[in-house]
Amino acid sequence: MVYSKTKDILNQIVADLYTMRVIVHQTHWYMRDHGFLFYHPLLDDFIDDIDDQVDEVAERLVTLDGAPYSTLQAFHENTQLEETKGTFDHTIEEQLARLLENYKKIADTLEKGIQISDEENDLVSQDMLIAIKGDVDKRIWMIQGDLGKAPGLEH
Ligand SMILES: [Fe+2]
Repeated sequence: MVYSKTKDILNQIVADLYTMRVIVHQTHWYMRDHGFLFYHPLLDDFIDDIDDQVDEVAERLVTLDGAPYSTLQAFHENTQLEETKGTFDHTIEEQLARLLENYKKIADTLEKGIQISDEENDLVSQDMLIAIKGDVDKRIWMIQGDLGKAPGLEH
């Protein structure tokens, strides 16, 4: 099938981004630490970015005659990210570290998608994934900076 591996990884990214949206929203709700007034609204911006990204990836998949996951069950069954029960006992630093870990997993999958779409010569998907990876890398840089660390993005 044409672009079959690209379509598979696009769907993986749909499942991961949708799950990431839930993880960020949980963090937005379950925050109880100094810095709340800054981080709580900031996470709304993170969610807005993810909403745009997942919509773009899913619609590219439909454009390729693919079928994006579209139920909570399908997202849950197919994501590589791990969800945990929301609790109020984490510091903001711990919550940021968790977001960082998940953003890094997404960045790795985007990188794979960039390679696979290149191999299948689907340059439109590749261009989209490169743009999204640039935005995710930027989030990683900013969270790392907030934690007092270097971006750590080099391969
Ligand atoms: Fe809110």
